[in-house]
Amino acid sequence: MSMSKEIARAKLCLDGKEYELPVLEGTEGERALDIRRLRATTGMVSYDPGVVNTGVCESNITFVDGEKGILRFRGYDIEDLTEHCSFLEVAYLLVHGFLPTPSEYNAFSKLMNLHSMLHEDMRNFFSLYPDHAHPMAILSAMVVSLSTFYPELELDSTEAIDITVARLLSKLRTIAAFSYKKNMGQPIVYPRSDLRYCENFLNMMFHTPVNGYSPDPVITHALNQLLILHADHEQNCSTSVVRTVGSSRANLYASISAGICALWGPLHGGANQRVIEMLESVIKQGLSAATLIERAKDKADPFKLFGFGHRVYKTYDPRAKVAKKICKQVISHMTRTDPLLEIAQELEERAMADAYFQERNLYPNVDFYTGLSYRAMGIPINMFTVMFAIGRLPGWIAQWLEQRDNAENRIVRPRQVYVGPSRRTVAETLNVSTYSHPGKN
Ligand code: SDX
Repeated sequence: MSMSKEIARAKLCLDGKEYELPVLEGTEGERALDIRRLRATTGMVSYDPGVVNTGVCESNITFVDGEKGILRFRGYDIEDLTEHCSFLEVAYLLVHGFLPTPSEYNAFSKLMNLHSMLHEDMRNFFSLYPDHAHPMAILSAMVVSLSTFYPELELDSTEAIDITVARLLSKLRTIAAFSYKKNMGQPIVYPRSDLRYCENFLNMMFHTPVNGYSPDPVITHALNQLLILHADHEQNCSTSVVRTVGSSRANLYASISAGICALWGPLHGGANQRVIEMLESVIKQGLSAATLIERAKDKADPFKLFGFGHRVYKTYDPRAKVAKKICKQVISHMTRTDPLLEIAQELEERAMADAYFQERNLYPNVDFYTGLSYRAMGIPINMFTVMFAIGRLPGWIAQWLEQRDNAENRIVRPRQVYVGPSRRTVAETLNVSTYSHPGKN
């Protein structure tokens, strides 16, 4: 049952016939041509590679206005949430649909602690990966492996889902920290029940037997804000993958594991790692910001200005504005200065003043400044997309649950326009009456 309302009818004229298509309108005035009956009434499918123009679901979770640079989770502006909430409160908001009361928050926090440990047998998995293993590969493999240790999710009960949601939100952080310790050759650090979500993560990452670790409130606050910035973003690539896998009724662990793989790509969440590598190239290879801008504009050059451009935002990504503020605070708190910040700001100024970027509405996106904060926190570059995944997890879960609970959402199975060979036979092709393929017997 559609939640959007029909406000008009569009007419499609084809082969002398006239078809009426409903026009739907969402809460914020977004309008959509309803083509759910298109093939049944016209025999045609729509054609939209990259699904640039096609809404694939109705959703109550996140609203993005790409022209005005608006991002809201369940109606709250991203600026409001990063200013006033913790990441765990926003995770609760996304999954449950409302901000938690203090008692709901405490119960949620207790669930996080209850499920923060990994099954001890999973510790051995880490020792079997090569030292140079990318943490995103480990993350995806470990998440789908959780389904072998916790098979309850096969039951569709609300209680099983709640436990699985808590397990995933809590254990993803533990898996990420364990993979870092493995990478560093340091002893792993177990989660502690006396530390809150972000402090616990930072302690598991940076506590060592020699130096211990004292939580830094500035860094803990910055990490909460950074994770909130990433918590959801409507039907982006990785969320679409999570919904698609979930639409086949695969379990939540399998769906999230697939989403992690989609996020890894450099055009998506992997961009935050590429941004720092791009900024470092200016120093390591003696390039200049001007050179990078020219390369990004050169169609013969596959180089893109990572951290710039967006499928939906045709103005400054509101998350990038907040991330820029955070990175300046973290850098001045941790390292005083970072030459990469100067390069990033010069790149931004040059791009924003350049006709190529202006004509295409290319602005900094969420990935342009976030890596600078992680770098100042001491998080290694190959963990940056892992940080994106930790932030995005509650959004993926909320979208998966919405997909599962909406009777209208069927298994995702797009159509195509076939442009391959027409019918032909092997005999005709080989121009012989009888032919026995060498591989046949
Ligand atoms: C994320 O969808 C989401 O919500 C994603 C995300 C989330 O929260 O989930 O916001 C997170 O993935 C952010 C994006 C991170 N990726 C990058 O920073 C990689 C660099 N950006 C580009 O690859 C690109 O902008 C995309 C992938 C982000 C968007 O690609 P689109 O929408 O398919 O746009 P396009 O490639 O068709 O670009 C339109 C034009 C093209 O030029 P013309 O053919 O018109 O001449 O703009 C050019 C592109 O070549 N262009 C760029 C560019 N981005 C677009 N040119 C140089 N550098 C760039 N970064």
